[in-house]
Amino acid sequence: MSRIIKRVAVIGSGTMGGAIAAHFANAGYFVDLLDIVPDKLTPDEERKGLTLESPAVRNRIVNGGWDRVKKSRPAALFSTELVERVRLGNLADNFDRLADADWILEAIVEILDLKRNLMERIDGIRKPATIVSTNTSGIPIHSIAEGRSEGFKAHFLGTHFFNPPRYLKLLEVIPIPDTDPEVVEFVTQFGADVLGKTVVICKDTPNFIANRLGVFIGNYRLAYGLEKGYTVEEVDYLTGPLIGTPKTATFRLSDLVGLDVMAHVSRNLYDLVPDDESRELFKNPPVVETMLQKGMLGNKTSQGYYKEVRQNGKKDYWVLDLDSMEYKPPTKVAMPEIEKVKKVQPLGERLKAVVGQPGERGSDYVWNTTAQYMAYSSRRIPEIADDLASVDTAMKAGYGVESGPFETWDMLGVPQTVERMSAEGIEVAPWVRDMLAKGYTSFYKTENGQQMVYSPLTCEYVPVVTDKRQVSLTGLKSQGKELKRNDSASVIDLGDGILGVEFHSRANALDDMIGQMMAWALDELEKSQWNGLVIGNQGEWFGAGANIAIVAMNAMAKQWGPLDKMIRDLQGIHQRMRFSPKPVVAAPFNMTLGGGAEVALASSRIAASAETYMGLVEVGVGLIPAGGGCKEMVRRVLSPAMKTPHVDPLPFLERIFLQVGTAKVSTSAVEARNMGMLDEADIIVMNPEFLIGEAKQFALDLAETYQPPVNDKNVYAAGKPVLAALELGIWSMLEAKQISEYDAKIGRKLAYVLTGGSISQGQWVNEQHFLDLEREAFLSLLGEQKTLDRISHMLQTGKPLRN
Ligand code: NAI
Repeated sequence: MSRIIKRVAVIGSGTMGGAIAAHFANAGYFVDLLDIVPDKLTPDEERKGLTLESPAVRNRIVNGGWDRVKKSRPAALFSTELVERVRLGNLADNFDRLADADWILEAIVEILDLKRNLMERIDGIRKPATIVSTNTSGIPIHSIAEGRSEGFKAHFLGTHFFNPPRYLKLLEVIPIPDTDPEVVEFVTQFGADVLGKTVVICKDTPNFIANRLGVFIGNYRLAYGLEKGYTVEEVDYLTGPLIGTPKTATFRLSDLVGLDVMAHVSRNLYDLVPDDESRELFKNPPVVETMLQKGMLGNKTSQGYYKEVRQNGKKDYWVLDLDSMEYKPPTKVAMPEIEKVKKVQPLGERLKAVVGQPGERGSDYVWNTTAQYMAYSSRRIPEIADDLASVDTAMKAGYGVESGPFETWDMLGVPQTVERMSAEGIEVAPWVRDMLAKGYTSFYKTENGQQMVYSPLTCEYVPVVTDKRQVSLTGLKSQGKELKRNDSASVIDLGDGILGVEFHSRANALDDMIGQMMAWALDELEKSQWNGLVIGNQGEWFGAGANIAIVAMNAMAKQWGPLDKMIRDLQGIHQRMRFSPKPVVAAPFNMTLGGGAEVALASSRIAASAETYMGLVEVGVGLIPAGGGCKEMVRRVLSPAMKTPHVDPLPFLERIFLQVGTAKVSTSAVEARNMGMLDEADIIVMNPEFLIGEAKQFALDLAETYQPPVNDKNVYAAGKPVLAALELGIWSMLEAKQISEYDAKIGRKLAYVLTGGSISQGQWVNEQHFLDLEREAFLSLLGEQKTLDRISHMLQTGKPLRN
């Protein structure tokens, strides 16, 4: 990347602009966020004697927009202190700020004239190399740049984010014919690396890729449901996880997005695609019009296809009856033909089983809506995209579905389904028939380990282009790179002399089989052909703690010897990682809890996904961290400070105590760093698809000059005086009834461990000293009935018990 982006400006502080500004701040940028000056005073402003010239009034809109961003849940910002990175202003008084911006993003109301006027002003002020992009969802991109200078047009393109931009992966990049290819390449790369997005380059056609197909499938599911009399609940049951779609399925998604937004996008599309043979579907049916009139817009008006109802203090969701337009209590969907196959894995087999029961109600719905969606997608090639992989990628990243239309089609079998579609009058694009006529029976295939995709342009297969950091552990395993495995973990050759340990136990919880694979990998790492080790996986989360069911079983059977050994083994592995002569890089992401967090803390360095929710949560099950977690927090947070004479250890220990004692979990990797679990030398990876690849590269870079830490007196034990202060704090929380007696008991054990036990005064001790204290406290808590109650409650309900 030759360009350097220092300052970013976002115009429009509404739903999208504010959240996009926040995400640039997440990525480490300083952002100017600008909005219009209001033309009227509010009654409150009038009462206060303010005028339209008062600064508070002039920035009212942007202030309001930014306040909403700060309060948004899930949070738009990685961490609260990042608010400082965004400077607010208005388009009248602060327009000159745009002269400093290297990238100006427009996210104002969806009105062409307003966007054009704004672009004209921007054309007059931007630096020659400044990129200008629009977040429009429906206005043709080229029309927004009409009349602008050549230089402007060469730096202009569409950057279509999805809401909420921090969490939704897709970024559609839409060049116009004049856009300099260097700008397209830069934005694509920046979007992927810095903003962590899955970037798809789209043609400048209405609603681009994801929303064009998304509107089709959403509207078709409703239309077919109405025509054949399926209920809202039936449709959501049939179009959720059963077919590889998130739980929001069809109608819950509509309630979440807002019926007004969906209807607007759909109506807009109708006007823009006169030649689309399925255009009539984009007209909103009477049901939707009625709902719009009655303000049944979804979650924002507390009623849409579902309505939140409170009865006897209990929350329930009633369901809209599409005939009577009244809400009714939820009922269980009865579709035995689906029930019997809904657990089939993998997705392709399940889909085949679902659609392979013609005449059955659930089967017919899934078949017909899926077939229509696949056929429509084929008919949009080459209009919206030349390559099928872009379409599949856009749908997966935009809607969180497990497979795009062409991948789904492959799973169901292209020749068989095309035959069935023909028989039922569902029209597939001629290029699909041509492909079949050539004897090609799938859109994708793998040749010598390389994934290939059929190109309707060349009528041959071409390689699917991927970034080299997109390492697929499943792919490596299928290429014979799995060196060793058991039921819970695998050791994989990641290439370039880097080993990988992949957890695949249930919930990726730590157990002794993972320990065995780790031990084997650490032995193997000592051989000269290996340079480093990466610990990570590509499942749902990094690791949700240790296997507490086994721990509890042993405790109930009073198997103290085996339990003692279990913890010693875990600590032993973690210490081997920590002092490994070659770098061990952990690659946490998503849930990284308890034992999972301890694995990360024990590694030489961490390459964390930006979305890492990390915490030592053991107190939730009546325990304290005993895999080195307490020791690591003291070593990382307190010990560096104690190198300075006369520093008071108490505030540092209070901080650790509160974090561990309240089972605090970070809401991002940035917050994990603020909590002291990541340090400055660790890296944060914005794009989860690159996580293993980046961790591998990190290990390789480290390997060149790596010096393991020395196993010396590395940890500061603050001793009795600080313990007494922490105990006083626990006592006052108990007195104030903020915690239970048993919380206090666990708290006292935790405080004892964190301060290094009964040491009369502060001193440096070796790591083993802390590990022994952790283990003793852990075992003694396991001897308590209330801890066993907490564990069994967690196992049964997934929630902590406060006893
Ligand atoms: P919004 O209505 O929440 O925010 C629009 C912002 O534009 C407001 O802060 C408003 O004060 C400002 N504005 C109004 N008139 C203006 C003018 N004359 N000059 C400058 N600013 C003005 O809208 P939202 O949803 O944030 O949409 C912004 C853009 O992003 C639109 O083009 C929309 O199509 C697109 N988009 C929206 C998505 C969504 O889910 N809401 C998703 C992707 C794109």
